[in-house]
Amino acid sequence: MDQNKLKAQVGKEAVKYIDDGMIVGLGTGSTVRYMVDALGERVQKEGLNIVGVTTSNRTTKQAESLGITIKDIDDVDHIDVCIDGADEVDDDFNGIKGGGGALLWEKIVNNASTKKIWIVDQSKLVPRIGDFGVPVEVIPFGAQHVFNAFEKKGYNPQWRMDGDQKYRTDENNFIIDIKVGQIQDPHALAEDLIHTVGVVEHGLFLNRVDDVIVGRDNGPEVLH
Ligand code: 5RP
Repeated sequence: MDQNKLKAQVGKEAVKYIDDGMIVGLGTGSTVRYMVDALGERVQKEGLNIVGVTTSNRTTKQAESLGITIKDIDDVDHIDVCIDGADEVDDDFNGIKGGGGALLWEKIVNNASTKKIWIVDQSKLVPRIGDFGVPVEVIPFGAQHVFNAFEKKGYNPQWRMDGDQKYRTDENNFIIDIKVGQIQDPHALAEDLIHTVGVVEHGLFLNRVDDVIVGRDNGPEVLH
C-alpha cells in the first residue's frame, strides 16, 4: 500500500483512543496531519469535546482551522494522551524524532503526557535506530562551535537548511542533524548530546512511548 495511505490509516486509528473531555497532545508531521484531520472530523460530526496541546505552530494552525480547541501547555495541568509520529522505532521502542523539526516541543509534550502513542507506517520500524540521523536542536549563539565539536567527535554533522538559510525551529533555534549510522548505545549518545553546552534537546526518544500503531498493508497493528 502507498505510504500516504498507511499514514492515513494510522491517523484514523489513533483518534479511537481519544474520549470526550480529554486533553490531547497533538504531534507534528505528515502522519499526524492525517490524525488531526480525523480528530477535526470527530469534533465537527460527533461534537467531541476535547482540548488539544500542540507541538508546533503548524499543528496549531491546522487544528484551529478544523475547530479543535487549543490551549497552551502551561494552561493545562496534565495531558491525558499524546499522539505523535516518529522517524524510526526499534523493537525496544527507542525512537528518533525531529524529522519535522519539532523535537523540542514534542519532547516537552511527551513528558507531560500520561499515555504516549506513536503512529508510524511500517517503513519506520527498524532493528536498530540511527540510519535516519539524529536531529539536535541548538541555540544560535555559539552554534558553529557545537557543530565543530560534533565534527571532532566523528558525528558527521549537517546543518538543517531551509533554502539557503539555516532552518529555524518554533523556538528560533537551529538544528544540526548528526549522522552516526546505527547506534550501538543510544543512552550513551543521548547523555553526550544533552551535556553539550548549547544543545537544547535532541531527537533520541528513549523509553518515551507506550503504544506504537503501525500502518500495515493488512490494517493497523498496535504494538505495546
Ligand atoms: C517532527 C517529528 C515527526 O513526528 C516525524 O518526523 C515523523 O514525521 P512524518 O509523519 O512526516 O514521517 O518528529 O518533528
